[in-house]
Amino acid sequence: MGSVSPLIKISEKMFQILTVLLLETQLSRVSALFTVEVPQQLYTAEYGSNVTMECRFPVNGSIDLGLLTVVWEQKRQGWLKSKEVYTFRNGKAFPPSQHPDYIGRASLLHSELKLGRAILQITNVKVTDAGSYLCLIDYQGVDYKYIALEVKAPYKRINTQVMRIPSEDKFVFMCQSEGFPLAEVFWQNENFNLSGSANTTYTLTADGLYNVTSILTFKPNMSENYTCVFWNKELNAETSAHVSTSALMSTQYSGKKLLISFIIPTSVIVAVLLCALIIFQKRKTFKNGQAKKGDDFNSQTEALYLSTVTASRDSGTVGL
Ligand SMILES: *[C@@H]1O[C@H](CO)[C@@H](O)[C@H](O)[C@H]1NC(C)=O
Ligand SMILES: *[C@@H]1O[C@H](CO)[C@@H](O)[C@H](O)[C@H]1NC(C)=O
Ligand SMILES: *[C@@H]1O[C@H](CO)[C@@H](O)[C@H](O)[C@H]1NC(C)=O
Ligand SMILES: *[C@@H]1O[C@H](CO)[C@@H](O)[C@H](O)[C@H]1NC(C)=O
Ligand SMILES: *[C@@H]1O[C@H](CO)[C@@H](O)[C@H](O)[C@H]1NC(C)=O
Ligand SMILES: *[C@@H]1O[C@H](CO)[C@@H](O)[C@H](O)[C@H]1NC(C)=O
Repeated sequence: MGSVSPLIKISEKMFQILTVLLLETQLSRVSALFTVEVPQQLYTAEYGSNVTMECRFPVNGSIDLGLLTVVWEQKRQGWLKSKEVYTFRNGKAFPPSQHPDYIGRASLLHSELKLGRAILQITNVKVTDAGSYLCLIDYQGVDYKYIALEVKAPYKRINTQVMRIPSEDKFVFMCQSEGFPLAEVFWQNENFNLSGSANTTYTLTADGLYNVTSILTFKPNMSENYTCVFWNKELNAETSAHVSTSALMSTQYSGKKLLISFIIPTSVIVAVLLCALIIFQKRKTFKNGQAKKGDDFNSQTEALYLSTVTASRDSGTVGL
């Protein structure tokens, strides 16, 4: 009977396989009863904004919140430990284990729970909020899913500054802005790419943003416009600011401007008035021993001079 025992062994093996298969189908049926689903797997939020992320779970009719547990955890890329963002247990928030980073910023929209929606809201999103979020739900069955959150911070406001180094006849242009991820800074004027002579440095702010400062020291042509471009490679977004030397140039030449717009017209007016006065005096003496014919001629000349005075005064006001 040496041939029977292998047969039995084979049938035993088949039974084992069958049992395993049955168990597996049963297990999958159990998990099919309670599954957490995510309508959106990746969220992108702007720094400082609010974001809501959603997990769905099955609710049959009315919900018994006392039996529900919802846990949201966050894990940053490259970090070993995860942070507890929000825990809902036995019908209420369970704050003791919440990570300090999320205190006052994370909440679960309780009114949505009865619809089978576990919606986490994070306000005033920070760069450090980016990462992988686990939502685990226990409601007569346990399941969980992961959601990814990306945070971007465009270099929106660019602060500019122009300084002059009189001793070297050079200008120092500065552009500074905060954002995330790290941006490259390019400089250009109407014709040239000037990035080669710029010095760009950055520091990290407490909020995890890059504080980027770029300084260009340059001997510019007169009244030129310079542009600094913050290029965010990962977002493929750029913002720019224009720096013009014209403001400083005009202070440099303000002496000349003053001369042209004020002193010259004033001298002209004074000179014309003096002339008018002399003519008036002459006419007075002339009038005493002259006929009416000459008087007409003189009043015409006087009118001409007066119009010249008015014209110079006008140009003076425009210049000022
Ligand atoms: C974010 O949410 C808070 C609280 O709900 C609200 O006061 C604030 O205005 C929201 N901010 C934005 C940018 O929507
Ligand atoms: C929902 O509950 C009712 C009774 O409360 C039950 O008959 C039904 O099978 C349940 N449905 C699901 C999908 O669990
Ligand atoms: C750039 O600026 C930093 C700080 O202002 C300075 O330490 C560094 O030497 C500068 N680099 C160049 C190439 O000028
Ligand atoms: C960014 O850096 C500049 C100097 O480079 C500094 O004046 C400014 O306060 C910094 N801003 C923040 C938010 O750290
Ligand atoms: C300054 O302007 C002149 C002509 O207007 C031009 O030839 C020269 O290349 C300019 N230099 C710079 C550095 O822009
Ligand atoms: C510089 O920019 C201002 C305003 O953007 C413009 O009016 C001016 O013509 C520009 N100057 C040059 C030299 O391009």
